[in-house]
Amino acid sequence: MITTRSYSCVSFCRRLLRKKLINTHHYKTPITYKFYTGKQHFSDFTKSKISTQCLIKEITEVSRDHLTPEISLQLITPNCPLWHSGEDQCPFPDPFWAFYWPGGQALTRFILDNGELFRGKTVVDVGCGCGASSIACRMVVAAHVIANDIDTVAAEAVELNTELNNVTQTTVTTSNLVGCHDNRWDILLFGDMFYDTNFANVITEWVVSLYTNGVTIFIGDPGRLPFEQHPLKSDLKMVAEYALPENCLKENNGLSCGFVWKYEPGNT
Ligand SMILES: C[S@@+](CC[C@H](N)C(=O)[O-])C[C@H]1O[C@@H](n2cnc3c(N)ncnc32)[C@H](O)[C@@H]1O
Repeated sequence: MITTRSYSCVSFCRRLLRKKLINTHHYKTPITYKFYTGKQHFSDFTKSKISTQCLIKEITEVSRDHLTPEISLQLITPNCPLWHSGEDQCPFPDPFWAFYWPGGQALTRFILDNGELFRGKTVVDVGCGCGASSIACRMVVAAHVIANDIDTVAAEAVELNTELNNVTQTTVTTSNLVGCHDNRWDILLFGDMFYDTNFANVITEWVVSLYTNGVTIFIGDPGRLPFEQHPLKSDLKMVAEYALPENCLKENNGLSCGFVWKYEPGNT
C-alpha cells in the first residue's frame, strides 16, 4: 500500500532532478561497447521482465497529456499515488523513465513535425527515458531506432510504450554508448540530458567527433542552466521552440519553453 505524504507542491520529478542522479561515475566507467545488446543487472524484484512491466503499469497511468498527444506513455502523473509520495515509496530507484521531461517533449514534437528529416534514417536516442522520441522517430518512418538508456527499468518501460503505440523496429539497449561510434548511425538525439554539467562535459567531445563522422545531432532542452552556460551552446543552432503545456509548467517551475537545437559549428 502506497502512503501519501505532504510533498504535493514539489512534484516527484523535480525532486528527482534535484538529486542530480546522473553521477560522474556513470561516465567514467570504461565502456564495453555491445551494439544492440540486451539487459544488464536487475535488482531482486525486477528479475522477472513480466513482474517489472506489471509493476510499471501499476504505479503509472497511460497519459497523452503532454506536447505530443499522438503518443501514449505510461507515466507517473498527479493521478498516481506515487506523484505525491516520497521516493522511498517507489519500488524502482530513480524512475526518470516515469516522467516525460520538457526537453524530451520539445524534441519529440520537433520529430513529429519534421518527419522528413528522420525518414529512412538510423537514429540513436541517448538517455531515452520513457522512449517518446524513439517512438516518434518510428512514427515518422525512421528506418531503425536505437532507444538507449543505462537504466534497465527504463528499457522495460520503453518496451511497454512501444507496444502501446504499435511501434516496431526499435532496439532497446542499456549499454553506455557515450564515446562510441558506428557508421550506421545517421542521427543522435539528446532529450533533456543537459541538466548535469558533468554529463554535458563528457559528451561534448563525443558530439564533436560524431559530427565529424557525419552524424546529425539534435538536442532538446528547456533552458537549463548547465546547458545555457555550456561552451557547446555556441556551436548549436536553434531549430524549434515550443511553449510547454500547462501541466509541464506546473511541474517545472521557472521553465516556459522547450527548445530544439542542432549541432552546427560555424553556422550559428
Ligand atoms: C532527464 S531523463 C530524460 C529522459 C528522456 N530523454 C526525456 O526527455 O523524457 C535522463 C535519462 O538519461 C538516462 N541516462 C543517464 N546517463 C546515461 C548514459 N550515460 N547513457 C544513456 N542514458 C543515460 C537516465 O537513466 C534517464 O532516463
